[in-house]
Amino acid sequence: MPTTLVTTIAGLKAATARLLAARSASAGRPATLGLVPTMGALHAGHAALARAAVAENDVVVASVFVNPLQFGDPADLARYPRTTDADLALLDSVGVDLMFAPTVDEMYPGGEPLVRVSAGRLGELYEGASRPGHFDGALTVVAKLLHVGLPLSGTDGGYRAYFGQKDAQQLALVRRMVADLDFPVEIVGVPIVRDADDLALSSRNRFLSAGQRESALVLPRALRLLERRADAHEPLDLESVEAMVRSAPGVELDYLEVVDPATLSPRAENCRETPFTGEALALIAARVGPVRLIDNAPLGS
Ligand code: PAF
Repeated sequence: MPTTLVTTIAGLKAATARLLAARSASAGRPATLGLVPTMGALHAGHAALARAAVAENDVVVASVFVNPLQFGDPADLARYPRTTDADLALLDSVGVDLMFAPTVDEMYPGGEPLVRVSAGRLGELYEGASRPGHFDGALTVVAKLLHVGLPLSGTDGGYRAYFGQKDAQQLALVRRMVADLDFPVEIVGVPIVRDADDLALSSRNRFLSAGQRESALVLPRALRLLERRADAHEPLDLESVEAMVRSAPGVELDYLEVVDPATLSPRAENCRETPFTGEALALIAARVGPVRLIDNAPLGS
């Protein structure tokens, strides 16, 4: 069945309820629902999220909505790529049932919401430090998408939502929101998809020139170096890795942090001079030309 485009919340709820009823009847058990929230400009990383959702659920909805609340810079919002036809074709090729692509008015009919979800202290670190309000905006729309994705009849079979591990901080915050506020949904993190040159896929990579892309490869190179040091239980010596990143032409390092994988609090011990032990997550962010890039890798797992 081809992917159906729906643009209204009422249309989404009705179509999802119909599909869940039909799939429950044919499976002889309550059907499960998977939601894949995206901002469109879909690439192979999103396809991996959608494929995981299709593999694990009877009915799958992908949302495509460029959420103004999570953009601090109006120019960044204006130039964010919008590729609705290609997005629909990609979701169709993966077997997604519904593409929910609402307008801003449909999502925020009274203008920007007065009441928002607060990401708290974790929302002010790392990405949040250079993008104030970003995570409040992202969590607010995720909360709303999780609600509007549910049909009025609910899902007896179960409800899962899929997020990329590339946005490690977003994934950690969504998990905390769902746990702290008792959302009836299971959050699934899907591994990062990389191009052949090891650069993590991102909708923003298209804005890199060939030379900037070459420079950007220092991000995955830094992560691989840390992985090797962690595997060998050597000191991570973050200063030397930071110096390597800074020496790449046109790369402005924002942060390189080694953090607890669950809480994302900085791991002060065993990260610099002393041998590395245990498990951690390395987070890196840098600006390369017009683009801000993020990447991460688990260490010592
Ligand atoms: O990761 C994204 O693309 C967005 O932050 C999300 C989760 C779709 C919310 O707008």
